[in-house]
Amino acid sequence: MNVLIIGNGGREHALAWKLKQSPLVKRLFVAPGNAGTALVAENVDISPTDFPRLIKFAKQNDIGLTVVGPEAPLTLGIVDAFNAEKLRIFGPSKAAAELEGSKVFCKNLLRHADVPTGDYRVFRNADSAITFLKDREDVPVVVKADGLAAGKGVIVCAGRAEALDAVDRIARQREFGAAGDQLVIEERLDGEEASVLAITDGQTIVTLPATQDHKRAHDGDTGPNTGGMGAYCPAPLVDDEMLHRIEEHVLVPTVHAMKRSRRPFQGVLYAGLMLTNQGAKVLEYNVRFGDPECQPLLLRLKTDLMEVLLATTERRLDELPPLEWDPRPAVCVVMASEGYPGKYARHKPIRGLDEAARLPDVQVFHAGTTVRDGQVVTDGGRVLAVTALGTTIPAAKLNAYTAVKAIRWDGAWCRKDISDKALWKSR
Ligand code: AMP
Ligand code: GLY
Repeated sequence: MNVLIIGNGGREHALAWKLKQSPLVKRLFVAPGNAGTALVAENVDISPTDFPRLIKFAKQNDIGLTVVGPEAPLTLGIVDAFNAEKLRIFGPSKAAAELEGSKVFCKNLLRHADVPTGDYRVFRNADSAITFLKDREDVPVVVKADGLAAGKGVIVCAGRAEALDAVDRIARQREFGAAGDQLVIEERLDGEEASVLAITDGQTIVTLPATQDHKRAHDGDTGPNTGGMGAYCPAPLVDDEMLHRIEEHVLVPTVHAMKRSRRPFQGVLYAGLMLTNQGAKVLEYNVRFGDPECQPLLLRLKTDLMEVLLATTERRLDELPPLEWDPRPAVCVVMASEGYPGKYARHKPIRGLDEAARLPDVQVFHAGTTVRDGQVVTDGGRVLAVTALGTTIPAAKLNAYTAVKAIRWDGAWCRKDISDKALWKSR
């Protein structure tokens, strides 16, 4: 079967690398892809949100399955558009993708389904939010723009003064545009964060091992927020018992509630969780694989991913044997451009990729790369997702950083402490 992957990040390179190994996959395309996906698949220069061209391409190239990486095409309805043309596609419908596309929808659904999450209130304008903040105790809160804001519409506030400023930015200055038409004010939760992803066909839920992302730019979880500077899997913080409880109290009721509200969910359901001392609470849902969580997950997955994706779209996940995993943990270190997550330069030649690729148990997934004059160059903020297996988390970390050391470009940097959080628990 011919397969089309949509997106151009490290997640999509990992998906392409994994699907390339499936005997069920004939030709593999990535739209638009990067210099890494070009090594395992054929890049197609079409934007992830240009549905008419993607559909035309899928028809002309006999694509049997399309796999969507990022959230934007999902929330814009790519799955509905493909289904209307009888084209098979992996991912949630537009209505189901609201779970990520609207924080108000997500919080209301969690409340109705009785899924543990922070207390919250929804506001349609700045005045009512300001009155609310002034009338209540001065406590830490999180102010969130309702819509997608490239991960920036969430403002964690120490107290009232910061919260009033956040409301002003979202609802008056409209820093995030229409995403700020509504806002959520939520209690601030304390604890460690973890991500639990599951693949579901709307009935059966296949929970993947827990992972941890590193969203802040600098070591020790300091500095500005980023798309994710590294991840590892499994996260020992979430033991089997906790994972089971998360499945039972978070994932199952969410999938049922989506079905009841006539938005059956099919695809990857990604729960961003805060592990509080009252148990795991949902911070947010994403409706796709996380980037970079996808990279260590897929490096460990032994089962043919194509079989899992096909079973999901055919609603027969219940027939699949349990997924097989490499018992070794995996650590993924993101190498970024100088200046990221702020402004950064592009087109810096990258050296040492071949040397890194020769190291055992290492996969260098490309994120922001392209080819210029036959040379792989940087083309984004997050440039590479260097991912490695090891017998323990520290061993996987060492393998990943050994590969990082082999790779060079002008201004390259990374966090030095990816996966150290895994060891905090035992301190
Ligand atoms: P979100 O876009 O909802 O994932 O939020 C981004 C980040 O904001 C999360 O990964 C958390 O670090 C933080 N965050 C969101 N909601 C809360 C909350 N209720 N309490 C504390 N931190 C939060
Ligand atoms: N790693 C966080 C995300 O994919 O949204």
